[in-house]
Amino acid sequence: MDIKHYMLQRFTAKKYNPAKKIPEPIINQLVDLLRYTPTSINSQPYHFIIASTEEGKQRVAISMNKEGLIYNKNKVDQASHTIVICSKTDMDEAYIRKLIDQEYHDGRHNPNMTKEELINLYIDYMNLHKIEHLDLQAWMAKQCYIALGNLLLGASLANIDASPIEGFDPKILDAQFNLKEKGFTSVLVITLGYHTEDDYNAKQPKSRFSKEELFTFC
Ligand SMILES: Cc1cc2nc3c(=O)[nH]c(=O)nc-3n(C[C@H](O)[C@H](O)[C@H](O)COP(=O)(O)O)c2cc1C
Repeated sequence: MDIKHYMLQRFTAKKYNPAKKIPEPIINQLVDLLRYTPTSINSQPYHFIIASTEEGKQRVAISMNKEGLIYNKNKVDQASHTIVICSKTDMDEAYIRKLIDQEYHDGRHNPNMTKEELINLYIDYMNLHKIEHLDLQAWMAKQCYIALGNLLLGASLANIDASPIEGFDPKILDAQFNLKEKGFTSVLVITLGYHTEDDYNAKQPKSRFSKEELFTFC
């Protein structure tokens, strides 16, 4: 497989064809791809909203209905699907216990540790961010961006156009879906669909810093 082909084929779509809908089997694969995202200590501190109905998409689009963000609204209006990646707002021992219970249920365990030792190890790791670095929310949001990277490459593999979007008002989006009450906050919006012929971004060359600047090979 030529990975470069799929990296270069993808671009941030600016204009979608509202008549073209993504087939359900492809959406199901992208949903699986999100679900299998690797995260630090397998923490999965997120929730995904998949909006495909007009009503669902409008609930997301409202968060872009203001100056400075309105340029993103047409993407949600016209794209086939819109995904919101929400990060947890807190993490505690009960969540870690639920996580390890799931791992044990799935037959996944570290042969060198008891279940309780593993729980304590994960709690220590959580507390490294929660108490020592005071960056728990940022750490959980970082895990959302891993899902984003997966999704963008996966969408390209499936010949689906996508737009990663940070330009929305998280307060408005959180209120639309009562996210705060559920222990989440919106971090990223991604629109998915098929670009129009006149989407100027489809024809733009890629622009990135040189390999020399970006990499150290040693
Ligand atoms: C986290 C993230 C947030 C972004 N937010 C927006 C956005 O709000 N609106 C938009 O049109 N593009 C947005 N972009 C697209 C970037 O501008 C784009 O990825 C970058 O210019 C590289 O171009 P390419 O995606 O076409 O390769 C975002 C990209 C990322 C990764």
